[in-house]
Amino acid sequence: MLYAKGLENVVVAETTISAIDGEQGTLLYRGYQAEELAKSADFEDVAYLLLNGQRPTEAEKDDFSTALKTMRPLPDDLKKLLAALPKDLSMMDALRTLISSYTGKEGWPPQQQEAMRLVAIVPTIVAAWANRSCGKDAIEPDPSLNHVANYLYMLTGEKPHAAHIRALSAYLILTAEHGMNASTFAARVIASTEADLRSAICGALGALKGRLHGGAPTGVLELFSDIQTADTSSETLLREKLERGERLMGFGHRVYKTTDPRANALREVLKSLNNQETFLSEAVAIEQLATQLLAEYKPGRQLHANVEYYAAAIMEALRLKPDWFTPTFCVSRVVGWCSHVIEQSQDNRIMRPQQQYCGPKPD
Ligand code: ACO
Repeated sequence: MLYAKGLENVVVAETTISAIDGEQGTLLYRGYQAEELAKSADFEDVAYLLLNGQRPTEAEKDDFSTALKTMRPLPDDLKKLLAALPKDLSMMDALRTLISSYTGKEGWPPQQQEAMRLVAIVPTIVAAWANRSCGKDAIEPDPSLNHVANYLYMLTGEKPHAAHIRALSAYLILTAEHGMNASTFAARVIASTEADLRSAICGALGALKGRLHGGAPTGVLELFSDIQTADTSSETLLREKLERGERLMGFGHRVYKTTDPRANALREVLKSLNNQETFLSEAVAIEQLATQLLAEYKPGRQLHANVEYYAAAIMEALRLKPDWFTPTFCVSRVVGWCSHVIEQSQDNRIMRPQQQYCGPKPD
């Protein structure tokens, strides 16, 4: 038997959903470059591609978009449940609770329609909770808007600017899927027991919440803020953190040994947003300095910026609140999770690894 702490280099599934080359820094969705899709496709195209295995025709895309629109509104029982939840619950906890209670026709194997219902409802729940935590009423989805524009609209109550839609769309496309990360693996483990799709997604939401995974962007903002408010130079502050053994949030990756291609793509997206020149140049300067210091303090580890570094910068530029960052990640990643659960169901075997007992033995 093989023991691999953190399951490093262990292959647990065959997949046709995505491919990552950690040495070259490339990411493919069903054979298409994710960065190219982020530049040229709509979120609906990419969601369809990941869930179905091929890009939609115009007619298929129309049907898919229309179906998502009809599935967006929050059912009354979920509205009541949302209103009854403790106000100090985190948004991730509220999202997990509502998804857990979002019943429908479920069973095994999971169906496309159930996946689409989840993809459609996650933004509505996140936005409704965001409004509730600001003491405002939920904003009903607007069927004239596409998936990304409608999400921004439900969060802010304003018709979003085209550049903001494009920037958020790029972020959501780039984070829709990423192989056997912790949350996707959690979803596949749950699915492998033939549990329903919703249960798998609730498990994935729990795994994404942690600060080593989807919780990292908030840590990136704290890093920016520490640097801005410090009475020492950025270099001294970063050195002190590394000397205390702290991790720099937004850096390092299990698979990428070079800059995460999604971070490169999002850096370009940040350039396309007006009035972000100062913020961008500061973010780039911190990235360069941190990369250099990580090479000095952790030689041979090849620690570079990951997607969360520029995700935080993009969401900050779009004026999304830090509490909304990880739930916004769920708006996109629910597509990857559902695609993996469906794939798992098509050639399933229960996941059942072994352990190595290191405890006391009988006398
Ligand atoms: N800052 C400082 N040191 C780091 C960092 C970092 N961001 N990342 C890794 N290291 C160091 C570790 O301390 C360790 O050093 P050591 O060997 O001297 O003890 C070494 O690099 C290897 O670290 P591991 O934890 O074994 O690397 P692993 O592959 O398990 O972890 C992870 C990957 C969790 C992403 C890690 O790099 C990290 O904690 N990064 C910061 C959090 C973050 O940005 N997470 C978002 C990842 S992207 C996503 O989930 C969507």
